[in-house]
Amino acid sequence: MRQAGQVVAKVFTTLKPLCVPGVSTLALANKADEVIRKEGGIPTFLDYQGYPGVICVSVNDTLVHGIPSDKIILHDGDIVSLDVGVTLNGYCADACRTYVVGIAKENAKRLVKVTEECFFTGVKLIQPGIHLGDVSHAIQAYAESHGYSVPRDYTGHGIGTHLHEDPSIPNYGLSGTGPILKEGMCLAIEPMIAEGRYATRILSDGWTAKMKDGKLSSHYENTLVVTKTGYEILTMSPTEQKEIK
Ligand code: CO
Repeated sequence: MRQAGQVVAKVFTTLKPLCVPGVSTLALANKADEVIRKEGGIPTFLDYQGYPGVICVSVNDTLVHGIPSDKIILHDGDIVSLDVGVTLNGYCADACRTYVVGIAKENAKRLVKVTEECFFTGVKLIQPGIHLGDVSHAIQAYAESHGYSVPRDYTGHGIGTHLHEDPSIPNYGLSGTGPILKEGMCLAIEPMIAEGRYATRILSDGWTAKMKDGKLSSHYENTLVVTKTGYEILTMSPTEQKEIK
């Protein structure tokens, strides 16, 4: 999973500079496919429950599961989430980044930053013996204290030889509830945060999940393993690891 995680990280390193005005979301997905296969991996999402894309590319008010398309073009000021899953030697890793395209508007920058902070605020609590609800609660409290809402229809998840394993990891909840974490558990923690109200709707393609009110949404995710004394994030590049310190 560590190796799969570093292929995911490599996809972000490659795609981040390509998120510029004029690029289609399909072009980004095609590049991701190239990187993943060159590293000997398989794009986990492709054909997962019939999902038609290599990765998910979700622009602005699309919360998750945006299907890559040559008709969807990035514009100056957009925010774009790249959700990437890689299976390598039978093990999965899953992560998401949201990037601003061109010149960012202040509100977009703030939403993206707070979404990342939600992740780290929750994840910093992780060690054997805590309740999963402690993490969920910390994410929710951080998002709501910044005036944002937490969509209820999508959650993080356990991960391993399958993309989605138990437990489900909501981005909202109560401290002291839910399963107790143990060393060796692998989790995909993925705050999805909205500028407006939290209700979502699914387009007729059966996948694309949009905010009902059409306002911006952001997503940040990493796969991690619970260690004896804390956790190890598997899907961050060495550069990203340095930047959080
Ligand atoms: Co996930």
